[in-house]
Amino acid sequence: MDTDRFRKYGHEIVEWIARYYETIERYPVKSRVAPGEIKAALPPLPPTGSESFDLFLRDFDEIIIPGITHWQSPNFFAYFPANSSPPSVLAEMLTAALGAQCMIWETSPAAAELEERMMEWLREMTGLPPDFEGVIQDSASSATLAALITAREKITSYRSNSEGMQSAGRLRIYASTQAHSSVEKGAGVAGFGRDNLVRIPVRKDYTIDPGALREAIENDISAGYVPCCVVATLGTTGTTAVDPLRAVGEICKEKNIWFHVDGALGGTALLLPEMRWMADGIEYVDSLVFNPHKWMFTNFDCSAYFVRDAAALIRSFEILPEYLKTRTRGKVNDYRDWGIPLGRRFRALKLWAVIRSYGVEGLQSMIREHIRLAAMLAGLIEAEKSFELMAPVPLNTVCFRYAPPGMSDEKTNRLNEKINHTLNDTGSIYLTHTSVDGKYVLRMVTAQTGVTEEHVLKAWEMIRECASAVLAQDGAIDID
Ligand SMILES: Cc1ncc(COP(=O)(O)O)c(C=O)c1O
Repeated sequence: MDTDRFRKYGHEIVEWIARYYETIERYPVKSRVAPGEIKAALPPLPPTGSESFDLFLRDFDEIIIPGITHWQSPNFFAYFPANSSPPSVLAEMLTAALGAQCMIWETSPAAAELEERMMEWLREMTGLPPDFEGVIQDSASSATLAALITAREKITSYRSNSEGMQSAGRLRIYASTQAHSSVEKGAGVAGFGRDNLVRIPVRKDYTIDPGALREAIENDISAGYVPCCVVATLGTTGTTAVDPLRAVGEICKEKNIWFHVDGALGGTALLLPEMRWMADGIEYVDSLVFNPHKWMFTNFDCSAYFVRDAAALIRSFEILPEYLKTRTRGKVNDYRDWGIPLGRRFRALKLWAVIRSYGVEGLQSMIREHIRLAAMLAGLIEAEKSFELMAPVPLNTVCFRYAPPGMSDEKTNRLNEKINHTLNDTGSIYLTHTSVDGKYVLRMVTAQTGVTEEHVLKAWEMIRECASAVLAQDGAIDID
């Protein structure tokens, strides 16, 4: 493709994107295709000769778009958001155009130094301690894995990297029953073994029980295990519970355990001074991750990983083959040493675009509004006799269920599952669910970039109507 045609299609694609954002609410939020449908529409073999880019664009519209779930729709209330924004998308286009491999400072000094500065900005914006240093990772899962590996290396005096886990002793990790599956995955990948992740019970509000944590650690020590890392969560995936950092941190300090905080979703709320209560006890934290690619309008992927002892992180990951030796080594940040992959995308650029475009106050007002919308929805649910609020709402996520009086839990579960599928099949909104104490719970997240009070109220109206309709249709007797 020559530059003339690149220019022509580039303009068309930007026009396509602008129109997409303007008309996004016309698409069914959740894709309606059946398994295998998209693949069947794709030729089994690649073209041998060049094809027109017009055909690519036609197939994008006709084959791909029907199989897309529209995460950027303001009617997307599912999972946690992967929200984006126009400045982020534009900067991402530039990142793709540069195609820079930002593994070390020399392979693009601007990428390394912008990343360094962006992490300082984020640290300042979230009120994190000045001795935290940061790096952008692809995902919270990778950042948590990096934390587990660093904790493992530190406790084994950096021997497990060279000698393997034989030298490590019987290391243990602790996290609440509500912690994200990435902690368990990390425990396996980092060689602890998934069975050595000890799941700590939660309190009534689904936050980790510090008393139970202490007991588990002390029992383990008596049994000859070596406690290595505790992971607390700011905003658990199920109900957005906020674990108490101070109570957990005090135990970690006393027992000399690495303390990692998974703030994948909730960390963004630290932009708001009124939400900084979540960071009480941060002085005990060794590492923390949060995802601008979830709730800070920066398109996937972009995870901000902070660590207090950057030297320990680097020592755990650095490796220096001949071809990566440079004259600047030791004088600059070579971010390949700060995580798992060698190759790194220029992610700081979109973060820079987002922060400059909205300004800190702009970001704060959007995040604050999302929290207000969740509180408003929680109020509406509480006021409705046949609905139950199933967990506290500290952030942007509301957990609830339709619970007609006198119905057994088992039937109520089936009823809510059916309501969820019926709502999602309409294509008008998209909600997902979780399980709380064995109860099927609907989850609605009010954190999409374009979500407004009107969207939330409309969705709530639909939920109420759908709940009564499903109940009337299937009766209280036979909900399948
Ligand atoms: C609390 C929590 N931690 C970690 C993750 C994983 O995030 P990522 O996709 O960036 O690995 C999620 C995903 O939703 C999450 O909710």
